[in-house]
Amino acid sequence: MKALVLNQYGGPEQLLLQETALPMPGKNEVLVRVHAAGINPVDYKIRDGSMKWIVGKKFPRILGFDVAGTVEQAGKKSLFNPGDKVFAMLPFKGGGYAEFVTVKEKYLCHIPENTTMKEAAATPLAALTCLQAFRKGGDIQSGDHILVNGASGGVGSFAVQIAKAMGEKVTAVASTRNQDFVYSLGADRVIDYTAEDFTKLTTRFNKVFDAVAKSSFMACRRIIIKNGIYITTVPNKGLLFHKSINFTRKKKADFILVKASGEDLQIIADKMSKGLVRPYVQQSYLLSEGPKAHTMIESERVRGKIVFHLI
Ligand SMILES: NC(=O)c1ccc[n+]([C@@H]2O[C@H](COP(=O)([O-])OP(=O)(O)OC[C@H]3O[C@@H](n4cnc5c(N)ncnc54)[C@H](OP(=O)(O)O)[C@@H]3O)[C@@H](O)[C@H]2O)c1
Repeated sequence: MKALVLNQYGGPEQLLLQETALPMPGKNEVLVRVHAAGINPVDYKIRDGSMKWIVGKKFPRILGFDVAGTVEQAGKKSLFNPGDKVFAMLPFKGGGYAEFVTVKEKYLCHIPENTTMKEAAATPLAALTCLQAFRKGGDIQSGDHILVNGASGGVGSFAVQIAKAMGEKVTAVASTRNQDFVYSLGADRVIDYTAEDFTKLTTRFNKVFDAVAKSSFMACRRIIIKNGIYITTVPNKGLLFHKSINFTRKKKADFILVKASGEDLQIIADKMSKGLVRPYVQQSYLLSEGPKAHTMIESERVRGKIVFHLI
């Protein structure tokens, strides 16, 4: 099969379209023919070696945590049948930038009927990040007010929609060019970060979700209510310190580390099938355009998501 292979850490040019062995499904695994594969910032952070202390130095490597496709082969007792349209976030090893991938059944979910392969591939990692982040600091109560920073990006665009679907009031933060886009996602109010500092707002929030990790707990503390929480997607030393003393404070600091889960993905799929959550795909690329796609994701300027399409 063809796959986008990484043979050493480095720039986008290290992504090479090569012939590799077809993966063989193991116990409780399904072989999926990939129609589209999601692209996330973590992919370039692995590619350039920033995460080698976590992922190690084993090559060749196939990046990609999000896939959408059809079941090619499934076990006799499987919940999935050949031809089923499925999507998944793959766990730690990745492997999505390829024509075929094996996926444990517990990570798989059927694609809602109203959703295209590209939209499905754009969804798992980013949407699961939001769903799992919103559980921090207690379940969301209808009517809670949340602030989403970085609302125009992959994670942020799902955060706005999922929070609205859960009955929250949403204030979102995005640049001038993305104001209309973020309103179209359902935000009640959109702050333009090029014109206004959201940490100086007089409104108080139950949760501040910094989807792009461009702020800090200390800067956001004053806009969080008592017993409220600041959650970021990229922890740093300061955040880890504040998290370690949460037990002494009324306002908490935390971060999310997304986990693959078919069960959680089903919760997202239900919201998608009701039209409450709709992935926005800015652009799709061929696998052979791997370096171009990675240059784009690394720019931090993507609106919604970008994906590879294989079929
Ligand atoms: N810990 C986890 O489990 C986890 C999971 C998912 C993602 N992440 C991390 O979360 C971060 C965001 O991921 P993503 O997929 O949402 O990234 P992304 O889609 O690449 O984010 C790009 C978006 O961010 C906006 N943006 C850039 N600078 C901004 C700023 N200063 N203030 C507000 N918005 C800004 C851009 O809009 P403008 O161009 O208009 O500014 C663009 O729409 C990444 O670092 C990623 O690695 C972590």
